[in-house]
Amino acid sequence: MESSQQFSLQNNNSFNVKAICPTIYFPKSLTDLKQLPDLASENFYILGDGTNTLFIDQQAPTIIKPSFTGVDITETADSYIVTVGAGENWHQLVSSLLEQGIFGLENLALIPGSVGAAPVQNIGAYGVEFSNFCIQVKWFEFVSKTVNTLNNDGCQFTYRNSVFKHALYNKGIIIEVVFSFPKVWQANLSYAGLNELNENATAKAVMEKVISLRQAKLPDPQLLPNAGSFFKNPIVDETIFTRLQREYPKMPFYPQGKKQVKLAAGWLIEQAGLKGYCENGVGVHEKQALVLVNYESENGQDIVALAHFVQQQVLAKFDIIISPEVRMLTSQGEQDFADLVIK
Ligand code: EPU
Repeated sequence: MESSQQFSLQNNNSFNVKAICPTIYFPKSLTDLKQLPDLASENFYILGDGTNTLFIDQQAPTIIKPSFTGVDITETADSYIVTVGAGENWHQLVSSLLEQGIFGLENLALIPGSVGAAPVQNIGAYGVEFSNFCIQVKWFEFVSKTVNTLNNDGCQFTYRNSVFKHALYNKGIIIEVVFSFPKVWQANLSYAGLNELNENATAKAVMEKVISLRQAKLPDPQLLPNAGSFFKNPIVDETIFTRLQREYPKMPFYPQGKKQVKLAAGWLIEQAGLKGYCENGVGVHEKQALVLVNYESENGQDIVALAHFVQQQVLAKFDIIISPEVRMLTSQGEQDFADLVIK
């Protein structure tokens, strides 16, 4: 199996901060996976394209980077069944399916990252989530050294969440994802901004609109390092929502059922006065306050310090805790944001 020692991860994280890992493994076959050393300890991390990970220490733990490739397409009478290797790039998959006349993922265009990372946090944008089209996830289990298959229910997808962050956390590696796309396609234009399109809009037109909406607000990580939304949108009880809405009648909100309401973290951060705020070479993006950007720091700790500050300001103003969607990696492995102490 391909591997490397003392590997610099600076080009493998979209915040572009400095980090070095003792060993990185690039498994791309079952044989490779079976050769991985015993990883019973928690001191390793599975890295996709590094677009949702913040390296906090310059020393990173052992890294496994799933490098399974390939896109296989079959069809039934009414659907296309598409099987994709975890190491494929998400946006390239979306574009290539669209070119082949297979529609469904166009609302998820331009999301940075790998296909294998998509189920972990159930990526979503513009009214569509990964879970809407995923029928299976295949994963290699470290202990039994076998490949297991989960169906959609088994993945326990919810907003930015899945079983891979909980019961199956660090239990194995996602190697392949299977989608089903109905041949009869209907545009999903429910999200603000897309509803300007005509209801007969083609999938290509939807994708172009999504790309232009994203480019207008979200900074390109190649030009200004960032990891997309830094925080998740908080989901609160209706009672808390009602209290806030009385005070802020213009506050955006998204009812979730079960007496819960999702709030817009970007709005909360902006109202806390932090849009465009900068310190120590890092800042809150001036067009979308949910995104933290790295102007000129090489140190992940600067971004954690800013994130703590943002969280505290929102808490002080609204009495709401916003939590990162980005995953925090120290030399000791992944850590909870709440437990991080800045040196
Ligand atoms: N808003 C503000 N100020 C801001 C940002 C947003 O007032 O600085 C308001 C907007 O005006 C709008 C509401 O907040 O009323 C929601 O904003 P937006 O539509 O931009 O979406 P979001 O909730 O901030 C989420 C996802 C994005 C995804 C968009 C579009 C999360 C954590 N983020 O952002 O995903 O692209 O919806 O669907 O759910 C990502 O995960 O990296 C990501 C970019």
